[in-house]
Amino acid sequence: MVSKNQKNKRDLLSILDLTREEVDELLERTSKLKEKLKQAVPYQPLKGKTLAMIFTKSSTRTRVSFEVGMLQLGGQAIFLDSGDIQLGRGESLADTARTLSRYVDGILIRTFSQRDVEELARYAEVPVLNGLTDLLHPCQILSDIYTIVERRGSYQGLKLAHIGDGNNIANSWIQAAALLGFDLSIACPPGYEPDRNILNEALKITYSQITILHDPREAVKDVEVLSTDVWTSMGQETEREQRLRDFQGFQVNRELLSFAPQNVMVMHCLPAHRGEEITDEVLDGKHSIVFEQAENRLHLQKAILEKFL
Ligand code: CP
Ligand code: NVA
Repeated sequence: MVSKNQKNKRDLLSILDLTREEVDELLERTSKLKEKLKQAVPYQPLKGKTLAMIFTKSSTRTRVSFEVGMLQLGGQAIFLDSGDIQLGRGESLADTARTLSRYVDGILIRTFSQRDVEELARYAEVPVLNGLTDLLHPCQILSDIYTIVERRGSYQGLKLAHIGDGNNIANSWIQAAALLGFDLSIACPPGYEPDRNILNEALKITYSQITILHDPREAVKDVEVLSTDVWTSMGQETEREQRLRDFQGFQVNRELLSFAPQNVMVMHCLPAHRGEEITDEVLDGKHSIVFEQAENRLHLQKAILEKFL
């Protein structure tokens, strides 16, 4: 038996698994790692380490940035399509976790249910990282915070609006705002509010203003950052027609930007459904920082890998 001595392992299932100080450390490490890469300074602290990456949903950014991140840090990622491993044929999450723990040094998972990720983590003896669930997308929002800090120096005094669905991205923004103490407005159609438990837990631990409203113009009034995401997330495809109707008026377009401050930054985690939640003009325009966001997934996640593995 391989002894991994991982009894004190830590998981990253939600932003609230971190303290504010730890987020600050991650942001600092991200700058250093980004700089090292730019200067082509070799840095391979994860030599000999492996990360299993279980995906039951599609991915471009998360998959590639974690694979490349592991490679750059000297380690190796193993991509596991859930349909190709026995998990897809009914092997339990617990047995999958126990087995993988005998081979690898960490497990990244992207799947539907947050509970499944929690179950995997409960039985894994190695750190488990959440690469997106229906409920949360912590790696995305942590790197988005890095992108914002890179642009404006810090997250202190930040005001951010998320326009559209109260989905995994919105829920992770809520946790980030609560932990780090910045102000957040979420504008969504009635019936598409963020998760109530996430919101209630967040409001208990924070002094920041977290507001849910239904008027996107009101939400963007005095913000520095405007974020949006698809109206139909992975797994909701059968609701697409209904959602297209319900989200009318929530598109991030030139008209909505006219209600925001002139230098507002526009973020989108991507992939975008161009012409639905955001217009080409805005996504490709001068306010958009979406490809910086995509790039910073790599750098921030390397800091996560360095810390957790
Ligand atoms: N933003 C994001 O997680 O993208 P992928 O679905 O391509 O991984
Ligand atoms: N809310 C989107 C995010 C994709 C990165 C989804 O879950 O499909």
